[in-house]
Amino acid sequence: MSRRLRKAVFPVAGLGTRFLPATKAVPKEMLTVVDRPVIQLAVEEAREAGIEHFVFVTGRNKAVIEDHFDKQFELETTLKTRGKTKELEMLISELPSAGQTSFTRQQEPLGLGHAVWCARELVRDEPFALLLPDMLIHAKPGCLAQMIDAYNSHGGNIIAVEEVPHEDVHRYGVVDVGPVQASGAQKIKGMVEKPKREDAPSNLIISGRYILQPEIFAKLEIQKPGSGGEIQLTDAMLALMTDQEFHALKFKGKTYDCGDKIGFLAANVAYGLARADLGPAFRKALNEILAADKG
Ligand code: UTP
Repeated sequence: MSRRLRKAVFPVAGLGTRFLPATKAVPKEMLTVVDRPVIQLAVEEAREAGIEHFVFVTGRNKAVIEDHFDKQFELETTLKTRGKTKELEMLISELPSAGQTSFTRQQEPLGLGHAVWCARELVRDEPFALLLPDMLIHAKPGCLAQMIDAYNSHGGNIIAVEEVPHEDVHRYGVVDVGPVQASGAQKIKGMVEKPKREDAPSNLIISGRYILQPEIFAKLEIQKPGSGGEIQLTDAMLALMTDQEFHALKFKGKTYDCGDKIGFLAANVAYGLARADLGPAFRKALNEILAADKG
């Protein structure tokens, strides 16, 4: 029997240098896709998958993330006084309950692996989900819910993967996998961070959602800096692979890398068009822009 998944970790301590100057004072996780910060969309995905506790690994200049998941009494009172019931109800329904969130700080951005390790005292001896909020995944059911289905059938560690063109593999973590199993997942035989095109074992890339067993923390604790001088999660997962099984799940959905300008702009267009309340008017505005654009 696989141990039930209750907690999710959101590393949000990165510098977001690709998005400067926007990220000088505003964390990149607070950049909005239509009308919600990307961090809220990731929390909604975890909530929909049944996660009960949300652990944020933050850093300097990130206090606004904590505020976003708190009650805003003044705002709620003003909305009530002005009869803005719909807006008030939305704010209340989207807020995690009291005690469902925890925040810790990564004092220096030493890499994703180090950020995950910073959550060890909050996760303790439980399996957990890890969501990189800037990798926004448009999927129904959500990507994490699809992964939990596979997890419930064989447990272990699961990594969400997706196919990219072969010429792009050098930008990502790439997995080497066996045949598709009954759960839809494939056993991982190996993985490599940012391989040369000719060395890549496949075109399946690691795409920002993981289910990990708590033994990963002991591996992270002794992990030396790897690619880019950062403590890499992929290296610690490789170390854990000698003791435990890892599966890759090719989820159904589309990823937008919102840490990258093109990915972020594309996400706003896709999410805007998909909204029942905004889609038709937005499509019209977009068509007008495209018609007027001389390229
Ligand atoms: P990125 O690779 O996107 O790095 O991190 P970054 O530093 O945030 O952004 P750029 O490349 O400078 O533009 C992937 C995820 O890991 C978190 C980030 O916040 C993001 O969610 N992260 C990364 C940390 O929490 N700490 C780190 O030291 C590095």
